[in-house]
Amino acid sequence: MDEKDIRRLIEAAVRARDMSYARYSQFKVGAALLACKGDPETGADVCAGEVVNINELNASEYRIFTGCNIENSSYGATICAERTAVCNAVSNGCRNFKAIAIVGGLNSTGIKGITYPCGICRQVLSEFSTDMYVIAARSEDDYDMRKLSDFLPESFGVGQMK
Ligand code: THU
Repeated sequence: MDEKDIRRLIEAAVRARDMSYARYSQFKVGAALLACKGDPETGADVCAGEVVNINELNASEYRIFTGCNIENSSYGATICAERTAVCNAVSNGCRNFKAIAIVGGLNSTGIKGITYPCGICRQVLSEFSTDMYVIAARSEDDYDMRKLSDFLPESFGVGQMK
């Protein structure tokens, strides 16, 4: 991924954060998943979403799916921004993830520090790819980008289920 694509993904996460329903914590999170069109196993091609320009492959093959955190009065029912983005992508026919950008911060202070994905979200993302990049961002040009496998080493996955 080049700088331009990373910036674009972070911008999408920042926009998604505006939709956050963080009534209880006031901590608003936005996530943007970069997905390669179609299902890697079946090749199913029903992938909707915002088209992205990415140098690696044919531009029309990539889509962005966003999500925000959605809190609940029964706190445990809260869903994180990353998992909202995964639900958005998978329910639109895309499971081939290349990267996810995450931004978070209190409503009062805005995006100040870096928000890393929680343990549950790391596991949920790893269901689809351990090779994808996680871009935990403070702004479009201030981020920590690493492979998901660095955040979740020796993960449990489909390989163990065989
Ligand atoms: N949250 C996320 O959406 N993603 C994360 O990676 C960390 C935490 C949300 C959950 C909750 O709504 C709020 O941030 C405070 O934990």
